[in-house]
Amino acid sequence: MISINTKTIEWNDIENCIEMVDQTKIPLKLEKKSCKTIDSLIDAIKSLKIRGAPALGAAGGLSIALSAFQYGGEDREEMIRTLISDAKRIKNVRPTAVNLSWGVNRVLDKVLKNRRFDCKCSICKLENQRFSNATTLSEESIEDIRRFALEEAKRICEEDVRINKTIGENGAKLLNDGDTILTHCNAGRLACVDWGTALGVVRSAVEMGKDIKVFACETRPLNQGGRITTWELMEDGIDVTLIADSSSGIVMRNKMVDKVIVGADRIVKDGVFNKIGTYTHSVLAKENKIPFYVVAPYSTFDLERTGRDIIIEERGADELRKFGESYIAPKNVKVFNPAFDFTPIENITSIITEKGILDPKIRDLRTI
Ligand code: MRU
Repeated sequence: MISINTKTIEWNDIENCIEMVDQTKIPLKLEKKSCKTIDSLIDAIKSLKIRGAPALGAAGGLSIALSAFQYGGEDREEMIRTLISDAKRIKNVRPTAVNLSWGVNRVLDKVLKNRRFDCKCSICKLENQRFSNATTLSEESIEDIRRFALEEAKRICEEDVRINKTIGENGAKLLNDGDTILTHCNAGRLACVDWGTALGVVRSAVEMGKDIKVFACETRPLNQGGRITTWELMEDGIDVTLIADSSSGIVMRNKMVDKVIVGADRIVKDGVFNKIGTYTHSVLAKENKIPFYVVAPYSTFDLERTGRDIIIEERGADELRKFGESYIAPKNVKVFNPAFDFTPIENITSIITEKGILDPKIRDLRTI
């Protein structure tokens, strides 16, 4: 029997595999899924069994450990080539949320540090360029490589919880007793290893004794708000009301909302990528003079890039044409289904991080 306090994603030391809460089953069931192969992990990421930027960061890190434990041969260089090619496959599954590649790269870098390969294939050549100062092949055994990868991946998971609690404490200071918050998608404990980012701020404020109410936008088409945010807040006894995405205008105009708080999938120089619909809420918040806060750890920052550089993931047409097994639109209607949108800096009041609260309009994000 698993409970709400179960970590969203973690390593199973007995079976040497990844375990995650299957988020597609919530709110009907709280069920765990094990991923014993890279293919099953790719499927879990693609189908959003594991989702949310920080949870994807942990999945990315753990994927390299999984690849290392899955390698059945005895040739170190062949093993490294396998890790690199699995890393590439994992990073390509969801291109918008930067945490996935961040987690993969962090663990891969740990394993590859000071290592140059003899292999001249295009993938290894690229990695050799990243480590151009390394001149010798290091002597670690296959077991050492597994241990390095797993230690670093577990560090990502532990840090995630600590960082989210610090973010929560920083953000909770901005919330007043009696505030009503509007949030979009799910930036809660299920989007992270635990605690949450946007919902972590709400949790920390409630823990401080503040009375906070939440409007959760349902977040069409996959309903992360309706299914997951409402469920996890209700489990914690936090007052939550579900609204259709299109109701955010009426609640903001009628002064039923004090602050909008959302998570982020990638923060670039000039704005923030988050779940489709976030931009719409930001425009409505600006129009109605309601503060609009983005909450994210530093692992979500990608300040070398601008909004134009980022690929927005487009998802399958049936996510819009169907509801469960039934068609709710003509079977062959054309569909445009972007998973994320871009909110420009001008619409954001502050970004709440583990290092403090940033005003993106005053402080050039490139200098942090
Ligand atoms: O497609 P999803 O469900 O992975 O999208 C998730 C979001 O957009 C979240 O708001 C974001 O990852 C922040 S989670 C702390």
